[in-house]
Amino acid sequence: MKQREIRILFNELSGLDELTEAMAGLVQEARKISEKAWSPYSGFCVGAAVRLADGTIITGNNQENAAYPSGLCAERTALFYANANYPDLPVEAIAISARTAGGMVREPVKPCGGCRQVLLETEARFNHPIQIILDGLNGIYVFEGIDSLLPMSFRPSSLKG
Ligand code: THU
Repeated sequence: MKQREIRILFNELSGLDELTEAMAGLVQEARKISEKAWSPYSGFCVGAAVRLADGTIITGNNQENAAYPSGLCAERTALFYANANYPDLPVEAIAISARTAGGMVREPVKPCGGCRQVLLETEARFNHPIQIILDGLNGIYVFEGIDSLLPMSFRPSSLKG
């Protein structure tokens, strides 16, 4: 038996001022759109802002439903819109922000497993890594690609056996 280890890498920033102007702007967009989330059941409001290769910014938020599984996360709302309407433009970056009735979350928000899988598919589709920015009051995490958020993943090449 051999024990193996997978390392994940990310950068921890103390706030928006450590990001480039463009990335800070993307986080601001995610914060802004989180305020328009439809989340009457959880009270958890998430915003996602996606930047495409030509600089276009697409935003989305979580859309809940009384039939709970019919809802969708903010990240997938934004990514699916981007991929549907700009099928030839790689996604370069996504910023994710979240708030409750008490205001912005303290710890950087973590995307759910399903959204990580969709981020991976989007990277694979365009063969382009996506910078992922997780926003929080106490700090901001930056991942250079989905691999560190979804190690040992099921990916398009997995289908080939
Ligand atoms: N949610 C997101 O929008 N993104 C995530 O990555 C985590 C969870 C939403 C789904 C649901 O509307 C609410 O947050 C509580 O789970």
